[in-house]
Amino acid sequence: MMISKIAVVGAGTMGHGIAEVAALSGFEVALIDISWDFLNKAKERISESLNKLAERKQISDAKAVLDRISFNTSYDIAKDADFAIEAVPEKLELKRTVFRTLDTVMPSHAVLATNTSSIPISDIAEATNRKEKVIGMHFFNPPVIMKLVEVIPSKYTNRETVDLTIDLAKKMNKIPVSLKYEIPGFVSNRIFIRLLQEACREVESGEAKIEEVDSTARNKLKLPMGLFELADYVGLDVVVDIWNVLVVRGTPDVNCSMFKTKVNEKNLGVKTGKGFYTYPAPGKYAKVQLPESSKVDPARLISLSVNEASWMVENGIVSAKDVDTVMIYGFNFPKGLMEMADEAGLDKILKNLEDIYSKGYQAYKPTELLRKLVSEGKIGKGKGEGFHKY
Ligand code: 3HC
Repeated sequence: MMISKIAVVGAGTMGHGIAEVAALSGFEVALIDISWDFLNKAKERISESLNKLAERKQISDAKAVLDRISFNTSYDIAKDADFAIEAVPEKLELKRTVFRTLDTVMPSHAVLATNTSSIPISDIAEATNRKEKVIGMHFFNPPVIMKLVEVIPSKYTNRETVDLTIDLAKKMNKIPVSLKYEIPGFVSNRIFIRLLQEACREVESGEAKIEEVDSTARNKLKLPMGLFELADYVGLDVVVDIWNVLVVRGTPDVNCSMFKTKVNEKNLGVKTGKGFYTYPAPGKYAKVQLPESSKVDPARLISLSVNEASWMVENGIVSAKDVDTVMIYGFNFPKGLMEMADEAGLDKILKNLEDIYSKGYQAYKPTELLRKLVSEGKIGKGKGEGFHKY
């Protein structure tokens, strides 16, 4: 099937960026939202972003790209589209309504994708009469910059739809990572939330201060942002939503209240101008000031997320290489999480997990795979083998 027109539903942070990426790749785009206010704001943001790209000579004609996008509050503009990407707020009933409408309006060959970060794809697919053509296509913020797209089949999705979505992601100049089957939070957000949970545990248990954790993330692990800074950037309400979904769907929790408290206080991060840090204005991000040095151990900071990733590898959901691709292209890590673990030493990661587990934190129970690698002496780069071979 040839895709020439893509419908994007939801013109917010993710939706307007996805529409821009699609138009940049030469597709005709129909961008739909419930009000002209949202659509006009999206048009302004796309235009600003395209002008930036033109200034940097990455594109030659910003207007030609913008002209490929039609904006409307009516789904009529989607009736000749071949593929839809939904990016409306994370509310199951709202998404099901959008999918029911797309299913009615769009041609029978069209694939319907959701950019959800936490809602089960199967629950959304069940609102349609084309369950086998519904799939997860998870972009990263900001979509124009971040290269990764996670492709997540539901229990109903057929192979043809998976292949078509992988192919579309490549045509949109993205790097797709396809999960073998759907798990809550996918690969990216399971790891992201585990990183935040350990950051939170260190602060609430008095091991470290917020700025120290973030200094280690930025200056030692060389991540583009501190962990609390990144949470502010993504939105603390979004973080808490994903965290809750993981817990409700059976992932062992790490008791930690800082994130929920911020949300209750309506300090949601960059979008409200205040979260763990203060920003110049609501919606305006500026890099936060952090101390140069910190006593926070980088190996301890990544230990819980490495354990989570090793659980996914152990269960055949993705390979260690895929985990690294997710972190490099979805979060701009300078190297993959598994490679970082191999460099730190898996024995050291295991020791940290056992230490925190012994304090009563169930989520830190080391996986069988991690124990096996360490018992076989495959503790990382120094020994020529860990999660990867060197
Ligand atoms: N359009 C066009 N260009 C843009 C842009 C946009 N929307 N946003 C940024 N840029 C450009 C800037 O103009 C700048 O260009 P220049 O180098 O020519 O000046 C360049 O990109 C870098 O931007 P900045 O100088 O503003 O800022 P930084 O260098 O600090 O980079 C960042 C910003 C790319 C956001 C970087 O901090 C980063 O990679 N952070 C991590 C982001 C991340 O992890 N995202 C994933 C979040 S999780 C998620 O989305 C999943 C969900 O389910 C929760």
